[in-house]
Amino acid sequence: MAATLSTLAYLVAAVLFILALRGLSHPTTSRQGNLYGMIGMGIAIVATLLRPGMGGGGVGLIILALAIGGGAGAYIATRIQMTALPQLVAAFHSLVGLSAVFVAAAAFYAPESFGIGHSGNIHGGSLVEMSLGLAIGAITFSGSVIAFAKLQALMSGAPITFKGQHWLNLGLGILLLVLIIAFVASGSAGLFWLIAILAFALGFLLIIPIGGADMPVVVSMLNSYSGWAAAGIGFTLSNLLLIVTGALVGASGAILSYIMCKGMNRSIINVLLGGFGTDAGGAAAGGGGDGDRAPVKAGSPEDAAYIMKNAQKIIVVPGYGMAVAQAQQVLREMGDLLKKEGAQVEYAIHPVAGRMPGHMNVLLAEANVPYEDVKELEEINPEFAEADVAFVIGANDVTNPAAKTDKSSPIYGMPILDVERAKTVFFIKRGMASGYAGVDNELFFRPNTMMLFGDAKKVTQEIVQALQK
Ligand code: TAP
Repeated sequence: MAATLSTLAYLVAAVLFILALRGLSHPTTSRQGNLYGMIGMGIAIVATLLRPGMGGGGVGLIILALAIGGGAGAYIATRIQMTALPQLVAAFHSLVGLSAVFVAAAAFYAPESFGIGHSGNIHGGSLVEMSLGLAIGAITFSGSVIAFAKLQALMSGAPITFKGQHWLNLGLGILLLVLIIAFVASGSAGLFWLIAILAFALGFLLIIPIGGADMPVVVSMLNSYSGWAAAGIGFTLSNLLLIVTGALVGASGAILSYIMCKGMNRSIINVLLGGFGTDAGGAAAGGGGDGDRAPVKAGSPEDAAYIMKNAQKIIVVPGYGMAVAQAQQVLREMGDLLKKEGAQVEYAIHPVAGRMPGHMNVLLAEANVPYEDVKELEEINPEFAEADVAFVIGANDVTNPAAKTDKSSPIYGMPILDVERAKTVFFIKRGMASGYAGVDNELFFRPNTMMLFGDAKKVTQEIVQALQK
């Protein structure tokens, strides 16, 4: 009876997780999606604690672990900056990978407790699941640690490459497969730990050649791996819910990686083989440095306010710098004031603006920008030609026409927002630094561009003040 009830509760939790994913696919329903996810997790935890065979001591230990893990998670979540989310996610994934390794080790050394056979005589199927969970978990762990270190600037974001790297990785990948087959055939403890060591090394080697610019894709891919590792543990533990949630995370992470690659017009293979992207943060700020180009035209917030007061149609293009400056609230205030002046104000979202999928949508939603004013790239691009002003706030790569014209550019092929078609283009940024991909943007030197140098929030606040005069 208890077993049936627990299976039923798991089923309800699985449905709630699916509804959560569905909810998270749109800003209007994302809060509800989160709520479904939390209720689903609550049901899953209670159902697990009530499962038959769960002794009092086990429950006590689980509650202690939940209190420690939940407390640490809650503490970190309240303090984390929005811009540091990618590295936080990477750090959390590393823990999922490591727990898959620990569960595999526990199942290997105490198979009786898992009902998968006896020491030295573990069921063949369980050895397969265990070794896959172990290998994927170890790769996820070391890969995520490197992704975290690169994103947190603890190590250089530049790709670390050497001759024969891809062949070495391929060779190690094949060796890993051979070791897994030998382990399943023999059940040897030595092979178990060899698989772990080789997979840790492979995770490390796979991620070091990938540059800072591709890290968000890598994080989402490691997210996918962590899901598959969890599904692998689910098989070892015969836990239906872990299999379902692991598969959901695995599949959604893979789809997200695909969407990001599409947004950058790159193939996933191209990302995984690495070598693209520079140190996080791009080239040094300030300067200008382009002696043979026309000088840039810099304006003041008052100039911008004057031009926008007389504009009919304004398209705002937010980017990573808006997130860094936390300028979204004051940006919405500016939009409201301009609307009062009779202008049409829309917000153009590039699929890879910022540093994580949906980054700009979340920030604009947080600032209560109406959803109907927020437009995706395909929808807004034809409108730039009719716009009086393109207000580019902390965005750079996503507007760079080199993506269309310069075959040698690392961003060649990426669809971009056609801001240069607007009558006047404002770029709000602190200096002349390049964006994440580390490439110059010739739009800064165009005659219809006016640079508004300074922190995005400060400059926009000054524009708001000027508009109110
Ligand atoms: P970027 O091209 O990185 O440009 C951001 C600009 O913001 C920088 O040039 C910087 O110039 C400026 N900035 C930084 N802090 C600022 C502040 N406090 N105030 C004002 N400006 C500030 O950003 P983007 O246009 O959003 O493009 C995103 C990049 O990330 C693309 O290359 C994309 O491929 C990559 N990427 C994104 C994702 C996802 S999912 N979003 C995934 C993979 C890769 P200054 O230093 O001169 O101020």
